[in-house]
Amino acid sequence: MRPGTLVLFTDRPAQREGLLRALDAVAPCHPRDAAAVVPAGDCIGFVADVDLLQPSLLRGLRALIAEAPRLPRLFLMRDTGARSLATARSLGASLCLPPDTAAGAVAEAMRTHLTRPVPEAVPLRPAGSGWGTGIAQAADRAGAVLAGLLDAARLTGTVDPMLVEHGLDPILGAVGEAGLGAWLDTVRAYDDATYQHCLLVAGLAATFAIDLGFSLRDREQVVRAALVHDVGKALIPLEILNKAGPLEPAERTVMRTHAALGHAILVEAGGFDASILAVVRHHHELLDGTGYPDRLSGDAIPDIVRMITVCDIYAALAERRPYRAPMPPLEAFRILRGMEGKLDMALARSFERAVAKA
Ligand SMILES: [Fe+2]
Ligand SMILES: [Fe+2]
Repeated sequence: MRPGTLVLFTDRPAQREGLLRALDAVAPCHPRDAAAVVPAGDCIGFVADVDLLQPSLLRGLRALIAEAPRLPRLFLMRDTGARSLATARSLGASLCLPPDTAAGAVAEAMRTHLTRPVPEAVPLRPAGSGWGTGIAQAADRAGAVLAGLLDAARLTGTVDPMLVEHGLDPILGAVGEAGLGAWLDTVRAYDDATYQHCLLVAGLAATFAIDLGFSLRDREQVVRAALVHDVGKALIPLEILNKAGPLEPAERTVMRTHAALGHAILVEAGGFDASILAVVRHHHELLDGTGYPDRLSGDAIPDIVRMITVCDIYAALAERRPYRAPMPPLEAFRILRGMEGKLDMALARSFERAVAKA
């Protein structure tokens, strides 16, 4: 059990005992009337199970957050309408869960979040600091977004589309101002292979989109796609996902299901447009029809999917793993060039130029 206490704000008596029991296994948990003002004291995190459309219920939450802005905070959402989600965002939600999430899953999510930074509490670039600090904070913020997405996908089978939005600015800002090299060096320090990979793909995608002269809206769309492209990996068993070495054929078959699983997660979530859904489902398709899951070929593969596929393959080569060093850029570019017929070569050449000069 962790030192410190948890606070449960709830206005649902029927759920209160179950949640308290489960959260008590993480740290001693105290229930509070949602309208009560609570001093932070040794509070290390809270769960809010209240109707966010009732302003009078938010006073206690805002007081607690003002006193301890970095507390992990989980919200059991009564509804996922725009107003409720916007309120949860303004309160710095670490994770938004459906109201009927099992108490054990809520406790498990809290346990995970206690070890992670809170996305909203950290300014992207504090006054007077250089990008050496700012880029680490930007990576932490984007990493926390990714953690929230993968946790929610694993625990509930769905994700909050609004959470993804918190990751866009940090990545585009850090890559645009500090450069790709600094981003890659920072992100390679992540031990978790999936976080490292997704943040690498997002940084590469941001660099590519900036170099192609995309509008801000289109840059954000490419980074949004990159952040969620592997969300289906949340449902792949960890012994396969994190295996140190090549996968057996049966394991590879399981791993390959992540594309269709990710697509199903985002369809279930709602709020993701067709091009994001296409990237998640089709980023392993190849122009010659030898990819998966639908063996698409040629023109059936949209441009944004082709872009993310190039970033994805390069990122997989450029990753740091405990059992191998990152592949040097020239060698990784050579492998991309060797995939003529499978990748869009015009895009692959543009990508190489963008990365080489970044
Ligand atoms: Fe993938
Ligand atoms: Fe990937």
